Amino acid sequence: MPARQASSQLVKMEPMSANKGQSFYVTTPIFYVNDAPHIGHAYTEVAADVLARWHRQRGEQSFLLTGTDEHGEKILRTAAANKVSPQQWADKLVEEAWLPLLETIDIQNQDFIRTTEPRHEKNVQKFLQHLYDTGFIYRGSYEGNYCVGCEEYKTDADLIDGEGAFAGQQVCAIHSKPVEKLQETNYFFKLSEYADKLLAFYEANPKFIQPDSARNEVVSFVRRGLEDLSISRSKEKFDWGIDIPWDDSHITYVWFDALLNYITAIGYGEDEEKFASLWPASVQVVGKDILRFHAVIWPAMLMAAGIEPPKQVFGHGWLLVGGEKMSKSKLTGIAPSQITDTFGSDAFRYYFMKAIAFGQDGSFSWEDLSARYQAELANGLGNLASRSIAMIHRYFGGVLPSAGEFSEDDRKVQQIASDAVSAADQAISDVAIQDALTAIWTLVDELNNYITVQEPWVLAKDEAKRERLATVLNTTAEGLRVLAVLMNSVTPKAAAKLWSALGAGLGSLDAQLLGDAGRWGQLPAGATLAELEPLFPRIETDATEAK
Ligand code: MSP
Repeated sequence: MPARQASSQLVKMEPMSANKGQSFYVTTPIFYVNDAPHIGHAYTEVAADVLARWHRQRGEQSFLLTGTDEHGEKILRTAAANKVSPQQWADKLVEEAWLPLLETIDIQNQDFIRTTEPRHEKNVQKFLQHLYDTGFIYRGSYEGNYCVGCEEYKTDADLIDGEGAFAGQQVCAIHSKPVEKLQETNYFFKLSEYADKLLAFYEANPKFIQPDSARNEVVSFVRRGLEDLSISRSKEKFDWGIDIPWDDSHITYVWFDALLNYITAIGYGEDEEKFASLWPASVQVVGKDILRFHAVIWPAMLMAAGIEPPKQVFGHGWLLVGGEKMSKSKLTGIAPSQITDTFGSDAFRYYFMKAIAFGQDGSFSWEDLSARYQAELANGLGNLASRSIAMIHRYFGGVLPSAGEFSEDDRKVQQIASDAVSAADQAISDVAIQDALTAIWTLVDELNNYITVQEPWVLAKDEAKRERLATVLNTTAEGLRVLAVLMNSVTPKAAAKLWSALGAGLGSLDAQLLGDAGRWGQLPAGATLAELEPLFPRIETDATEAK
């Protein structure tokens, strides 16, 4: 992790980035290991990674945590169906599916936590014991419905009429499968005491839950009052989980265990210095399906333990197939590698961040992906870079010419570049990743337009216009420099290729501070440019049709 400090220009950032010691701690949900990842999971990962990389490019201490949720009945049943122990099943899925996913979509995480690790298990127990000792946990009895797919206790309002094989029964609205009746003696967390405290917290921290639609939904849910939460299961029923420290006939409810990953991974209970340097998290990215766990139960657990809640929980939308949430259990999951094998990880990352407003649902289609790849990446950015750099090679032997006097058109490019940097940066502070890309594309479009209008190939025919040609190509090269810095978080492979072609002795791309990116005239004239590797190669159309 780079240990750079933010430059003075960066201090005026939104509160999200201006947290103590300029640290930026972002988390993804930890994923169930009952199955292999699909593009819905990858979508969450990419968004969190883009935020983390962007903040790192600002010079902040950026820390991305992701990992796997390995306990609970769902995993136990999957392992049993596959005739292996749950630990063996989890190990296999982590090694063969979840860690490789990070490579497939180019995630630069700082840590990966598994809930079966000792650093997690023992500190979950520490947390529980603390809450028990301070009177927030009591023994009681539970009677009600449980959905193993959601690993969640369901109220009647959460159930709908079943269809097909389940006609006549009440089923979980998310999984369309019947729930299970539970009647157990359990331990309960006094969640009901937190309704008013949470409402006051939401009021005092209007950005805690984002987007606003998610916030409104949670606020009205909490206004209806909260019930205490069963946080243990009897081992008579199943035993794949963390022992309740004061009663080993019970294991911890999987969500109570899982939520704590966000603090056990960064030293809660054993490395207080590290914990203090990262907590509270800057933004916790979650799908809207698990927003209530993160925006209601999680802050209440933390408040009970005397720990500050995270600064923000961001609930993003779903990738839909046929109008429904894409899911493996409904056989609608698409493996991320199906896309990256053809289009590459950069295109995967760009596509999902650009095509869907973060916070809203979106439908994936091969046609849309293909069209955007062609129009925005290959023709928009890729072609701009290749023809600009090729002209410097052709007309100046690959040596970056110095700019002469700037015309109004040149100054307009400079202004648009600087505005794009500020607008994109502000958008990232608001977790509006799509808007950041829209802002960046104002520069891509402007540069393409600039080349069309300036016609450097015409200038090149007239020796008297040599200085003007130099200024035009210097301007496009500078514009590409800005784009390399701006796109490093979203399309890191393409940005790195662009940077190595621009060469230029400015140090590594990762070391370029965003706050400084819009300052014009950084590429040293006289530097030799390298050839540019194609950023977004042409894709054979039948490769996409074959899917
Ligand atoms: N293990 C829990 C989370 C515990 S966090 C303390 C869990 N895991 S999950 O694997 O089922 O899903 C995790 C996340 O994957 C969802 O919240 C969401 O972020 C993402 N997605 C799963 N399917 C998705 C879509 N179809 N679309 C978008 N995101 C999706 O819940």
